[in-house]
Amino acid sequence: MYAQLSNILDLVADEDQEVAALMAAENIRQSENLPLIPSENIVSTAVAAALSSCFTNKYAEGYPHLWKEGKKVEANGRYYQGQANTNALEKLVINRALQLFCDNNNPEDYHANVQALSGAPANLAVLSAFLNPGDTFMGLALDNGGHLTHGHKVNITGKIYRAVQYGLTDEGLLDYDAIEELAKKEHPKVIVCGATAYPLTIDFERFGKIAKSVGALLLADISHIAGLCVAGVHPNPFPHADIVTTTTHKTLRGPRAGLIICKKALGQQIDKALFPGLQGGPHMNTIAALAVALKEALDPSFKTYARQIVSNAIALAEDLKQAGFKLIGNGTQNHLILMDVRHSKPEVCVPDASQLAEQLERAHIVANKNAVPGDLKPWIPSGIRLGTPAVTTLGMKEAEMHQIAAFITRATQHWQDDAELDKIGAEVKAFMVPFVQG
Ligand SMILES: Cc1ncc(COP(=O)(O)O)c(C=O)c1O
Repeated sequence: MYAQLSNILDLVADEDQEVAALMAAENIRQSENLPLIPSENIVSTAVAAALSSCFTNKYAEGYPHLWKEGKKVEANGRYYQGQANTNALEKLVINRALQLFCDNNNPEDYHANVQALSGAPANLAVLSAFLNPGDTFMGLALDNGGHLTHGHKVNITGKIYRAVQYGLTDEGLLDYDAIEELAKKEHPKVIVCGATAYPLTIDFERFGKIAKSVGALLLADISHIAGLCVAGVHPNPFPHADIVTTTTHKTLRGPRAGLIICKKALGQQIDKALFPGLQGGPHMNTIAALAVALKEALDPSFKTYARQIVSNAIALAEDLKQAGFKLIGNGTQNHLILMDVRHSKPEVCVPDASQLAEQLERAHIVANKNAVPGDLKPWIPSGIRLGTPAVTTLGMKEAEMHQIAAFITRATQHWQDDAELDKIGAEVKAFMVPFVQG
């Protein structure tokens, strides 16, 4: 799986031994550790190669189209010359994005902006397109599974706008009635739905109704579940959402970037907000890699992959529950699992998830600490977040999930026993071998 890097390593080593050594070390780290961070994945060789293409040399500020009186027209909207290939490339990826995300909902009624450098600027661009400083929007609170850019106070979205945060029920479910009540009270201009740590299906239709009832735009940030949505494994946010943002490197398995898709009537405002409002030149090499990733996601085999991600997550969650871990939402319906290790059964109870995440890494299991609902001190989180996109890319199925659950359980039971953790680490390394060769 990681053999793609060998030729690149030699090329870099000819110029720069220090960077080549770090690349080689990271290659080994990725081959010897279980990749269970739900926001990570492993791109194909073609995506990796497109990322290193000569498109990286080209400045392409502007768009391969212009907007005239609210309508998108075919025209060269770039600020520099030499855009024949960048224009063709960006149009290709826009069309692929529309085909993928809007399939049954009339792609011609939608617009895609493929230039966001990642998920955070995609969200900021959308908010800045429709809000003035001080305006109200709503988003899911960070400690309840939302993202920083959904209005957390340390993020610019929480500093320049009046961000009203909603949360989950005690059972860890989105509380749609409470969200509706809050929206009626606060009159937000935009409601953001979507999450970074929510293991259950999101009811976009209900969110759409809530937004409509208060005259707000609905922004669905599907960064985590994009690959599941396009494969039909999770409901699609369109037509309920007005705007969809997503990162392209999680379940979608593309390069690190952001994507914005919206109802066409909003396209001009969004394009303008992203460039010149927020960003400069797009990273055309990343856009080339995104084109390749979207072609891969359009292939029927991607549906099989996405289904397997969810089957794997369910298998892993069931075993972890059996072992005594408390799971937020009591399980999973998507690609991620959120364990509350502080309130798990005594055999697998750990008071501080930060320490556990570090000790799991000692056992070659790479997950991340995460706040869970009710955490009063974010710097001492109770949660460990796990996901199956990357291990599924490696070819693992339910049988391997049972093995992974056993590794996690043992490592948690022995989280203070370094010798045992090293022993588990050696076993995990051996377990990985057949999946990372070739
Ligand atoms: C829901 C959600 N939105 C936005 C982002 C930000 O994406 P990026 O890190 O690419 O800026 C993330 C990243 O984890 C996310 O989970």
